[in-house]
Amino acid sequence: MKTKILTILKEADGFVSGQDLCHKLGVSRTAVWKVMKQLEEEGYVIEAVRNKGYRLVEVADVMTEAEIGSRMHSKWMGKQLIYLPETDSTNIQARRLAEDGYPDGTLVVADCQKAGKGRRGRSWSSPPGSSIYMSFLLKPDIPPYCASMITLIAGMAVTQAVKAETGLEAQIKWPNDVVVNGRKICGILTEMSTELERIHYIVTGIGINVNQQEFPEEIQATATSLRIETGRNISRSGLIACSMEWFEQYYELFLQTQDLSRLKADYEALLANLGREVLVLDPAGEYRGICRGIDEGGQLLVELPGGEQKAVMSGEVSVRGIYGYV
Ligand code: BTN
Repeated sequence: MKTKILTILKEADGFVSGQDLCHKLGVSRTAVWKVMKQLEEEGYVIEAVRNKGYRLVEVADVMTEAEIGSRMHSKWMGKQLIYLPETDSTNIQARRLAEDGYPDGTLVVADCQKAGKGRRGRSWSSPPGSSIYMSFLLKPDIPPYCASMITLIAGMAVTQAVKAETGLEAQIKWPNDVVVNGRKICGILTEMSTELERIHYIVTGIGINVNQQEFPEEIQATATSLRIETGRNISRSGLIACSMEWFEQYYELFLQTQDLSRLKADYEALLANLGREVLVLDPAGEYRGICRGIDEGGQLLVELPGGEQKAVMSGEVSVRGIYGYV
């Protein structure tokens, strides 16, 4: 009921009468009043005027199930939504939900993580009140080797959502870090449970630096947040909902071909590395080349000085001399 009331208040042009709300939702005036009090406690400013009703005056950066739900316009992604004020890791939580039989597209969002996981066994700093920590569950009927492409698609979705919600020129650092002005604002970690030829489920976890203004010393030089880059607070709930809409669109295109053939052009348009010199940190030996895009499997195409083109699958790629981080 809270999500419905919130949606009605947001869509209304001015006051909504208590009687209308009772009528639409089939509940008592007291029940409506109780929801208004709860919303105020969560940080919304609601004006209540006798004979006029209720009006939503201000939407702060509230992140609750109702606020995210009231903004979610996707068809199925994130429709099953679990919000937790605190958890160990949303990736771990999503895996638990998968084992309990939760459906394709289930989304877990937390305000704070006590054991946030990064790539390569690193931890992910996850203080409360300012960032997005979310993971979603997918159950695609695709071969396990295709799963890494989902991480690239998630990177595209977040980049588009950041552009739409903030106006910032967000880009992708191959394969899936989202960067603004050469600094990282988002990291993505995809994990899966699989047999040799069959995926049980995939969990994609996304961490976005939204409103925090300070970072741990070890990432101070390479990280930034949307608040730092725009100078204003950004709604986490809006960014979550927008990311889910973009992801759903891209993911449905990916499922049609089980590769990135329909997404390659969009991906390359967002790629910070495109046309720039990259240093490929290959365990067999470092080399330099010019980034020419990606192939349909998501590998980075690097043109060597002699003109030969290499497809890079794993290993770290960095750009030297242009940005510090990218
Ligand atoms: C990276 O190292 O760049 C990936 C970081 C992924 C962090 C996110 S935060 C939400 C989800 N839960 C986790 O424990 N990790 C991912």
